[in-house]
Amino acid sequence: MKYQTAIVVGASSGMGRELVRQLAASGTKVAAIARREERLQELVNEFPGLVTPIVHDVTDHDAIPELFQTITRDLRGLDLFIYNSGAMPIVEVKEFTWEKDKQMLDVNISGAVAWCNQAADRFLHTNHGYLVGIGSVAGDRGRHKQPVYNASKAFFHTYLEALRNRGVCVSTIKPGPVDTEMTAPLNMKGMMSAEQAATIILSKADKNGEHYLKLAHRIAFYIIKRVPSPIFRKLKI
Ligand SMILES: NC(=O)c1ccc[n+]([C@@H]2O[C@H](COP(=O)([O-])OP(=O)(O)OC[C@H]3O[C@@H](n4cnc5c(N)ncnc54)[C@H](OP(=O)(O)O)[C@@H]3O)[C@@H](O)[C@H]2O)c1
Repeated sequence: MKYQTAIVVGASSGMGRELVRQLAASGTKVAAIARREERLQELVNEFPGLVTPIVHDVTDHDAIPELFQTITRDLRGLDLFIYNSGAMPIVEVKEFTWEKDKQMLDVNISGAVAWCNQAADRFLHTNHGYLVGIGSVAGDRGRHKQPVYNASKAFFHTYLEALRNRGVCVSTIKPGPVDTEMTAPLNMKGMMSAEQAATIILSKADKNGEHYLKLAHRIAFYIIKRVPSPIFRKLKI
C-alpha cells in the first residue's frame, strides 16, 4: 500500500470513482466525497471498512474547513488528497448562459480552491502529503466551444503551479477525452477508459509537476499551446 489514507473529492462517478476503487483495492482508507449518496454507498459495499462516504456539495464552500478537519481527524492522518470534482454542462457554440457558467466557476474554481487550500496548508505545515488536481487539456487554450470550462481549468492549473511554488508537492493532471458521464453526450470515439485514466493518475500522484495521460497529448499540446492566436482562431478546434 502506497498511501494509508486519502481523500477523493468527486468520487461518485467516472475517474473519481475509479480512483477510489483502485486506492481501496490497494488497502488505502479513502474518504469518498460527492453529492450522490447512493453512488458512494456502492463503493462502501464494495470496500467495507476502507471507504467512508461523505455527502457534500463542493459549492457549499463555507462548510469545507470544518469538514476537512473532521475527515483528517477520523482518518488519523492524510497522505493523498485528490480534487477531481468538475462540471462541464453542454454549452452551445454561441450560448452565454450565466447559470451554467456559475456552476462551472463554483465547482471547478471556488470549490477547488476551498478544498485544495485546506490540503495545501496541512501538507506544507506537516511536510507530508501529496496533492493531486484534475485539470484538463481543455485548459491549455481558450477554445470557442467552452469559454468558461476552458478558463476554469486554466485557472486551476495556474493556482496549482503556485501551490507547488509555495513548496507543496502538487501533481496537476491534464486528461484528454475520457469515457465518463461528463463526455457521454459528446459521442466521441476512441476515448480512454476511466479505469485506465485512474491508473495513470495514481502512477503520477506523487510526482511534482504537470502531467498529460498520454505522450501523444504531451507532444500535441506542446505545439497547440504555441500556435499564434490568429491561426488558432481559424483552426476552430
Ligand atoms: N471526461 C473527460 O474527458 C475529462 C477530460 C479532462 C478533464 N476531466 C475532468 O476530470 C474530472 C472528473 O470528470 P469525469 O469525466 O470523471 O466526470 P463525471 O463522471 O461527471 O464525474 C464528475 C464528478 O464530480 C462530482 N461533482 C460535480 N459537481 C459537484 C458538486 N457540486 N459537489 C461535489 N461533487 C461534484 C460528481 O459527483 P456528484 O454529481 O455525485 O456530486 C462526480 O463525482 C473533472 O474535473 C473533469 O473536468 C474530464
